[in-house]
Amino acid sequence: MKTRITELFDIKHPIIQGGMHFVGLAELASAVSNAGGLGLITGLTQRTPGDLSAEIARCRAMTDQPFGVNLTFLPSVNPPDYPGYIQAILDGGVKIVETAGNNPQKWLPALKEAGVKVIHKCTSVRHSLKAEAIGCDAVSVDGFECGGHPGEDDVPNFILLPRAAEELKIPFVASGGMADARSLIAAMALGADGMNMGTRFMATVEAPIHDNVKQALVAASELDTRLVMRPLRNTERVLVNAGVERLLEKERTLGAAMKFEDIIAEVAGVYPAIMQRGEMDAGAWSCGMVAGLIRDIPTCRELIDRIMAEAQVLIRQRLEGMLAD
Ligand SMILES: Cc1cc2nc3c(=O)[nH]c(=O)nc-3n(C[C@H](O)[C@H](O)[C@H](O)COP(=O)(O)O)c2cc1C
Repeated sequence: MKTRITELFDIKHPIIQGGMHFVGLAELASAVSNAGGLGLITGLTQRTPGDLSAEIARCRAMTDQPFGVNLTFLPSVNPPDYPGYIQAILDGGVKIVETAGNNPQKWLPALKEAGVKVIHKCTSVRHSLKAEAIGCDAVSVDGFECGGHPGEDDVPNFILLPRAAEELKIPFVASGGMADARSLIAAMALGADGMNMGTRFMATVEAPIHDNVKQALVAASELDTRLVMRPLRNTERVLVNAGVERLLEKERTLGAAMKFEDIIAEVAGVYPAIMQRGEMDAGAWSCGMVAGLIRDIPTCRELIDRIMAEAQVLIRQRLEGMLAD
């Protein structure tokens, strides 16, 4: 397939692996890129810019295909060393960056000057338009279904994607709820030039996470995610577990008075416990409703090849077959 996204990033297939904390390491990013998609290393999972440089080098040793780095800009009391991470990206010769969270405007001049293509993840049309106005090359439009932070507007992709298509001039990929060829073709019908998958890529052979997590995704249904932290206006979609039930109970009892400190036990340090040690009740970790569509743990190449083969069948047989003569 040739789309504005495959052209922009010089990739074979219009499929991106979104940044994922403690999941987006070199093993996964290189496997996705080797399979013809765009793999992304998650910048902030690396504790220092020096660690990110080493991870970029490790990824480069595993693939000669384009890959990128995700940089997430979160509100924080002690912000990470963003200038250092940007320098590591530039020094590592990475040419694609996925930004997410706050407006990346401050960091764009350095990236653009070095010829880096920037795709910003947005959960609304107004933020997507802002990304276009400040010079981003593309947008990842993240619907309400998505794993992670869906924002506070709660607009699902069946509305959000065509709305984005009505307004945006730069290309965008559909993100949130994407799992297979049906997702890809539907997203393209709604105006996207490709798709971004998070949760689906966790259930792959190469995802460098504990097998308990992969099995939990296969076992989960579309009813098993919950929205947490809404009272803090930092809503996150997570897979339900005992830690998440505790967190939701605190939200119910504390109500609008809840502060971040009240839920620290259920959110801090959870990612290493879940992803590395497989302690499935440790607390809140991002997971999309798309878990209900995950039934196996293929390699990234098997997954992407299957999507692209089934996409052809969908277009040539199912859709064309519906056209009356
Ligand atoms: C475990 C996990 C961790 C994530 N961590 C990040 C992150 O650190 N930064 C970010 O921009 N997005 C993060 N995301 C969001 C994904 O990049 C992607 O936008 C989202 O998963 C798309 O929805 P889907 O899960 O339905 O495919 C994370 C998602 C998951 C499932």
